Amino acid sequence: AAPLRLGIAGLGTVGAGVVKIVQSRGKLLSARCGRDLQITAICARDRHRDRGVDLSGYAWEDDPVALARRDDVDVLVELMGGADGPAKAATEAAIDAGKDVVTANKAMLAHHGQTLAEAAEAQGSVIRFEAAVAGGIPVVKSLTEGLAGNRIQRIMGVMNGTCNYILTRMENAGLPYAEVFDEASKLGYLEADPTLDVGGIDAGHKLALLASIGFGTRVCFDEMELEGIERIAIEDIRAAADMGFRIKLLGVAQMTGRGLEQRMSPCLVPANSPLGQLQAATNMVVIEGDSVGQIVLRGAGAGEGPTASAVLSDVTDIARGIRVPTFGIPATDLQHATSAQVSIP
Ligand code: NDP
Ligand code: HSE
Repeated sequence: AAPLRLGIAGLGTVGAGVVKIVQSRGKLLSARCGRDLQITAICARDRHRDRGVDLSGYAWEDDPVALARRDDVDVLVELMGGADGPAKAATEAAIDAGKDVVTANKAMLAHHGQTLAEAAEAQGSVIRFEAAVAGGIPVVKSLTEGLAGNRIQRIMGVMNGTCNYILTRMENAGLPYAEVFDEASKLGYLEADPTLDVGGIDAGHKLALLASIGFGTRVCFDEMELEGIERIAIEDIRAAADMGFRIKLLGVAQMTGRGLEQRMSPCLVPANSPLGQLQAATNMVVIEGDSVGQIVLRGAGAGEGPTASAVLSDVTDIARGIRVPTFGIPATDLQHATSAQVSIP
């Protein structure tokens, strides 16, 4: 089969990680897909920045929209970030040209996912976003494929690596917020606008996407109850520990007779529970389905390798011809959901 030709927009933490995997695992990926994966073109802001990877074999574009429209690009791999701006423009251009899109951009999808999914459906394109939720954990695939036979009853968990890193480092090392924030930044966990992380918004974006997939609704982010970790002081963490608890930024979504209930906020969880034991940037997603019961997915929620791994999962699916609709069911069939405040179990 002809190679699948990738255009990669964004060569930061995640984009460089994707290039490294494609370069180093070429034969393995080719064997798994039954065809080669070929990066043909790339795009970032600074053409001259050293990204720790050889980019000399790829065509360079300064403009992500031009990259998306190139004849030698079959799939736009959007790894720039931002709800609007170049990420959305390039995604729309790719869909308009009938191309598939793989993105890690939960902000864009939380705000524009419905419109983009409907546009993709009309064009026969797919948008895949495994990397947008919980880093390396294959949670989108679990909901859309592995749990397809279930009526989902509840989705909950820790979905922001930065916040979990900050909270656990503050407790374990007794370090102040500002110091552990800098550590998380150096590890590549933070969003370009870190208030999205510490404000609970990034985790809220992810929960909204999972809820949409799990409950078959349009993405319903705007009315979510949201609170971040900015006001958690080391004294709060110590007081919780004294009582046998840890503070986690916890999200819960469930469908009730009143509508889709979604909440993301700092919660006390027992220190010796699986959620309480989560360290560093680890994420955990707990899903309850009527047939399967409860399943728990746990793994690295941020960082170069785990996120690039999730991007490759979508790329290899497309290479194999697996074209699961964006939100698990066709975007035009998604139901409207009214938001209501959830009570933490
Ligand atoms: P980075 O900030 O490290 O990289 C962003 C990249 O996009 C940079 O290479 C930047 O170019 C490029 N870029 C930004 N604006 C433009 C533009 N106008 N034109 C061309 N290129 C542009 O971000 P990350 O790699 O961390 O994140 C990328 C995406 O992945 C985001 O949507 C993020 O939410 C998501 N994500 C990130 C995770 C992580 O752990 N980091 C985990 C899961 C998802 P330049 O380098 O030249 O400045
Ligand atoms: N900033 C995000 C986090 C990246 O810390 O979880 C992964 O989505």
